[in-house]
Amino acid sequence: MKITLKATVAAMVLLPVSVTAADGVDIEHLGTNNTLVRVTGDSKYLILPVQESNDDARINVLVDGKLDRTINVRLAKSKVDYYVPFDVEPYKGHSLALTVTTSQGRNSVREAKDDACWKNICMADTFDVSNREKYRPAYHHTPLYGWMNDPNGMFYKDGVWHLYFQHNPFGSKWQNLSWGHSSSTDLIHWKQHPEAIEPDGLGMVFSGSCAIDPKNTAGFGENAVVGMYTSADVSQMQSLVWSRDNGETFEIYPGNPVITLESEARDPNMFWYEPTGEWVLVLAHALEHEMLVFTSPDMKDWTLRSRFGKGLGAQDGVWECPDLFELPVGDTGRKKWVLLCNLNPGGIFGGSATQYFIGDFDGRQFTADTDADGKVPTKWLDYGKDHYATVSWSDAPDDRRTVIGWMSNWQYAAEVPTMQYRSANTLPRDIELFEGADGQIYAASVPSPKLTALRDKAVVKRAKFNIGTKNKTVYLPTANDGICEIIMDINPKKAQNVVMTLRNDVGDNVVMTYDAVARTLSFDRRESGEVGFSQEFPAVTEAPLLTDGDNLSLRIFIDRSSIEVFGNNGQFVMTNLVFPNKPYSTLTFRAEGGTAKADNLTIYSLSIK
Ligand code: FRU
Repeated sequence: MKITLKATVAAMVLLPVSVTAADGVDIEHLGTNNTLVRVTGDSKYLILPVQESNDDARINVLVDGKLDRTINVRLAKSKVDYYVPFDVEPYKGHSLALTVTTSQGRNSVREAKDDACWKNICMADTFDVSNREKYRPAYHHTPLYGWMNDPNGMFYKDGVWHLYFQHNPFGSKWQNLSWGHSSSTDLIHWKQHPEAIEPDGLGMVFSGSCAIDPKNTAGFGENAVVGMYTSADVSQMQSLVWSRDNGETFEIYPGNPVITLESEARDPNMFWYEPTGEWVLVLAHALEHEMLVFTSPDMKDWTLRSRFGKGLGAQDGVWECPDLFELPVGDTGRKKWVLLCNLNPGGIFGGSATQYFIGDFDGRQFTADTDADGKVPTKWLDYGKDHYATVSWSDAPDDRRTVIGWMSNWQYAAEVPTMQYRSANTLPRDIELFEGADGQIYAASVPSPKLTALRDKAVVKRAKFNIGTKNKTVYLPTANDGICEIIMDINPKKAQNVVMTLRNDVGDNVVMTYDAVARTLSFDRRESGEVGFSQEFPAVTEAPLLTDGDNLSLRIFIDRSSIEVFGNNGQFVMTNLVFPNKPYSTLTFRAEGGTAKADNLTIYSLSIK
């Protein structure tokens, strides 16, 4: 990702390593785990020192003596791992103080004074967002700093793709959930904006959606961007917001919450349904493993119309982050509805994954297609371990249905070897429907067309070559840490397996095996590099070929710590994280059980221009 911040948040700072009784910060220790911090300086940021392994300190922000908000920060105790900025500019002209309750008490106030956070807290006018991580992807969206999970609230308006995301701006673990905001005109170059929606008295700001209201049905103005998210505190409820500046800032609807239910319900996804002239909202009834469908004339009053999913599809986890949209089935002239249903745990390879249902929708009720045995089949949108919370942009141009996922897995997202930021998004993909060999309709994920703009010169171009039992090796690009796109067509001919191995010179490797008999492609990352941070990380994932024919065309995107393998024009995709100690430098081909053939092997070095 090319990192640029808006002028107001931009530029940089020197992060002090040790500052005592910093200018502009008065510290008074009230007890062994309780400290009052008065902000007296006029710099833009109060810089908070974080120790990743510590527990959260609770910080009450007092403005003119009144509680404004509470944030949780892993304030450093014995050492500082990194810093996070608390923007004090909005409080200019007011008295600002923080009452801090740290997690563990000390034996005496004298000891508490020695905590690393009090020695290093300071004020600064700028905050350094330049990348300090070797695993940060170059062309995938990542937050400039802090934790990220689900993409959500995405909409396209006036030529700009808006992407919001579950963001903790105060640390690299899940906490303080806000809607972070980035935007792009091409889905490659992203610019991060200030937080769009921050926690309020109803709780943290969980996932949701945005829709543009051209007819002003909600009364927030013609073409207002209307958002709905889950306010999450003791209970989960749905809150409405609107924006008149294209999603830069949001107003909170005073009538919130607009939907409350007894059992956990979250991630509202709303869209306009033209045939009935109503808004439709799909809500994950998480613990009930079902999706609820509501309708409304104005986005404020919602009526529950139907439920879908009890007992259907994968059920071994909570249902989250729904999306519902209609698409043509190839060029058959038919149309079908797709219900995305993210699930965690219980995914195909453990932990989080996106399942989907194909069916029909009449504005009130979704009905899933069945297979030849009359059963509703379970279908997966991605056959990797690192693809979750996928939802689509509303109002995408050219009737496209463009989706993006969170490229991680709840099993280990907080343990991956990064710190300045945690998690990237998948590449944006356009969903297209096709008919499989079994007569079922499936969703293909086609890499966003603009991605070809990343290509530099082809470092490898081979029209055709045989793949035998001896290794055949080609070299991957060395520029930009080897970030690249690999394209090829594999014809297995008589071979049972075609084995393709990515490797570096310290022995890290990823083995992709096309089993032409089972008609599957597997991806083995058990020796891919750093794998020991979680026992759930080393894994083999496997994707099926869903249409007839033995030939397999592949498009593989490598971006420092991710590999996305698109097969047969996106008929399957496998997204997996990898943390190689050095970039993979070679790709080796080998066949088992006969000689195979590769056509049109092209490897492009990629870069952000
Ligand atoms: C999915 C999820 C959502 C929720 C959000 C909270 O990953 O659990 O259901 O809104 O994350 O961050």
